Amino acid sequence: MARKLTIAIDGPGSAGKGTVARWVARTLGYRYVDTGAMYRAVALVALRRGVQLDDGKDMGALAEGLEFDMAWDGDVLHSFVDGEDITPGLREESVGRAASDVSRLPPVRAALLSTQRSLARKGGIVMDGRDIGTVVLPDADLKIYLDADLDERARRRHEELIRRGDVRSFAEVRDALELRDRQDRERSVAPLVCAPDAVRVDTTDLTLRAAVDRVLELVARRLAADAR
Ligand code: DC
Repeated sequence: MARKLTIAIDGPGSAGKGTVARWVARTLGYRYVDTGAMYRAVALVALRRGVQLDDGKDMGALAEGLEFDMAWDGDVLHSFVDGEDITPGLREESVGRAASDVSRLPPVRAALLSTQRSLARKGGIVMDGRDIGTVVLPDADLKIYLDADLDERARRRHEELIRRGDVRSFAEVRDALELRDRQDRERSVAPLVCAPDAVRVDTTDLTLRAAVDRVLELVARRLAADAR
């Protein structure tokens, strides 16, 4: 039987990471871990509890104390924190912005890092985020850097928000995405960068189906190289 790989998928917001990673994981029968959802969960709980988002010590203690879980319900992946299903609020713009803010804090990153690494220990996993191939799983069997032009990513994000009833102008969505990317790229700990050994896949002109096929082709190649 083929070995089960560890697959890291990184890239900026709305490049298609989540959709591609889920699809690849389901096709291969691997587990999927959305690390962005963990940062979002920490931010959501902090907002609810009124913890100051730039307080490294308090935010680190909060992140350390949370228990994360994810489970599929049909095609929907639910995120749980301390047993509570927090999926509904997780994708909101305010939570995404707060997640980017708290993800700059080293104590928060350290708390989530050990959880993320332990989830990947047994292999057979697709994990997506910003620093998976560079920091969380530097020895991953396959690293993908998924990218797309800012305008295309903003178009996708805008559509996603409209689908959820959050109507905003395209310009506002584009500006927010650009700001968040800059913050994720320029932070001092675990910034968003393409790992030197990652394969870049630009999804600007690709359907997500085509991006999934491209990743599956890279998986097949990796498994074939193993078998040689
Ligand atoms: O992928 P996303 O939009 O759900 O991620 C939300 C924020 O979390 C993102 O702006 C930066 C942060 N994040 C991170 O710093 N490291 C990760 N591995 C995943 C997400």
